[in-house]
Amino acid sequence: MAKLRAGVLISGRGSNLQALIEAAADPAYPAEIVLVISNRAEAQGLQRAAEAGIPHEVIAEPDRTAFAAATDAALRRHRAELVALAGFMRLLDTGFVKAWRDRMINIHPSLLPSFPGLHPQHQALAAGARFSGCTVHFVRPATDSGPIIAQAVVPVHDDDDEERLAARILAQEHRLYPLALRLYAEGRLRIDGKRVIVAGSKPPEIAALNPAP
Ligand code: GAR
Repeated sequence: MAKLRAGVLISGRGSNLQALIEAAADPAYPAEIVLVISNRAEAQGLQRAAEAGIPHEVIAEPDRTAFAAATDAALRRHRAELVALAGFMRLLDTGFVKAWRDRMINIHPSLLPSFPGLHPQHQALAAGARFSGCTVHFVRPATDSGPIIAQAVVPVHDDDDEERLAARILAQEHRLYPLALRLYAEGRLRIDGKRVIVAGSKPPEIAALNPAP
């Protein structure tokens, strides 16, 4: 079967992009990355795209509408069917979000709807949460809202700082994003209002307490 053609938008390090590249290297993986777009020329993720032989572009247009138009044109040129935001740190034009509705996904380093926006790991620590994690969701105009596809949970440790918690979450992001993209590419996601029904999936059997009893 033809693979789903995904475009990935990044702003920086690109470790989630790398996880997607590595997943897509498996011939059995149902999606391929056809284009990487960065809004910052110095993004390390561009190097990762280059090393993987994936077409990549910098679109550093400061005007939000012009950025959206150029990005949309590039995605269409490469016949992208899905947009994956992977550490993309710029607000997107509402028209663009609407045009890609149900065809654009994002990863965020918290258990949404808790801690949307900037510095979610700091927000989790400041709130005293004993678990945090990451979320892959469909993109809607309001920041970090949108139907949730998949989440991974990590414990918060008493001696965590923002950096340690972020690293623990990031390791799970690298598992979660390839899983979510695969489910999308396999046509297993059905959006029902705020909820996403995942065909043929089962929840884990465990529940966790923190502190452990
Ligand atoms: C990741 O933790 C991602 O979840 C987060 O930025 C980091 C990017 O890392 N995204 C957001 O906060 C979006 N609101 P990466 O460039 O190494 O993938």
